[in-house]
Amino acid sequence: MASSMLYGAENLTLTRGVTPKRLGFLGSGVHGKQFANSGLISCSRMSKVRTLSPKCSLSSSRPASQPRFIQHKKEAFWFYRFLSIVYDHVINPGHWTEDMRDEALEPADLSNRNMLVVDVGGGTGFTTLGIVKHVDAKNVTILDQSPHQLAKAKQKEPLKDCKIIEGDAEDLPFKTDYADRYISAGSIEYWPEPQRGIREAYRVLKLGGKACIIGPVYPTFWLSRFFADVWMLFPKEEEYIEWFQKAGFKDVQLKRIGPKWYRGVRRHGLIMGCSVTGVKPASGDSPLQLGPKAEDVSEPVNPFVFLYRFILGAMAGAYFVLVPIYMWIKDQIVPKGQPI
Ligand SMILES: C[S@@+](CC[C@H](N)C(=O)[O-])C[C@H]1O[C@@H](n2cnc3c(N)ncnc32)[C@H](O)[C@@H]1O
Repeated sequence: MASSMLYGAENLTLTRGVTPKRLGFLGSGVHGKQFANSGLISCSRMSKVRTLSPKCSLSSSRPASQPRFIQHKKEAFWFYRFLSIVYDHVINPGHWTEDMRDEALEPADLSNRNMLVVDVGGGTGFTTLGIVKHVDAKNVTILDQSPHQLAKAKQKEPLKDCKIIEGDAEDLPFKTDYADRYISAGSIEYWPEPQRGIREAYRVLKLGGKACIIGPVYPTFWLSRFFADVWMLFPKEEEYIEWFQKAGFKDVQLKRIGPKWYRGVRRHGLIMGCSVTGVKPASGDSPLQLGPKAEDVSEPVNPFVFLYRFILGAMAGAYFVLVPIYMWIKDQIVPKGQPI
């Protein structure tokens, strides 16, 4: 019943003939059922392949249009002012490992060293380090709203030939039909209007270009859901697919990812839980027309309201620093091969 209320739930299909039982990791989903943690999901109304409703997403969340505490550009700016200091060494290892990154970038199909690539919300360049394994650094642009995060990227030797610029994911400083690949990892959760950012991804890509957005997935466990909704945007899998389709992308696919020590558990949500790709089928702007931006960053903000939101949002974020540690301890204690 819950699933029938969700857009496109009936359209999600597991491709490559993989059935949940044959997948490597199984975890306990909502209502205690087992579900596949990984696999490639694509969207097709006509497909006869076995359908898989993504059980990690079956509970209702606040709509993406109602931003959480750290889902405004000013809050994201200050959040990363401090987080950039520890980002690579303390935050990433719990959520976003090198093997996850390489797995998540695989559907982006970085098949040619001469491709023009934009890494939007590129931050300290952690994902860009994965991109430059396949594409010449001189062809890669890292864009981020945080000069503090970008300062870390500038210090990385393999990224010294990349172009590094400040900018907003929802209003990209690239011309239409510019890039062969659009990559964005772990940034969508801070965008006040994710649909606008994905529309921009479409616009800046060339005909046949591919967008790859890696981001969080919504929890089903009640406490994790509570903190997720306070902190930032944790989209549902079907929301990603809907945003891509509305922006005009074709061949939209979603690949589930997660840290190894979670053994496929997705009920707490994941900061980096899926890699969604889509292909631009025609040159030019997106067929989706949107009005003016929801957030005007030039408007004055009440400092007390800002501080209250910022502190509550950052505290909720701290819960998600603890979850990977809790899962790691469980992984150490529970015998291998058993669900945790
Ligand atoms: C979790 S970090 C991810 C960094 C990097 N992509 C990685 O894989 O490690 C999120 C990044 O998104 C950036 N960001 C948030 N909102 C943004 C926006 N509207 N435009 C551009 N960058 C944004 C933040 O400054 C931050 O550096």
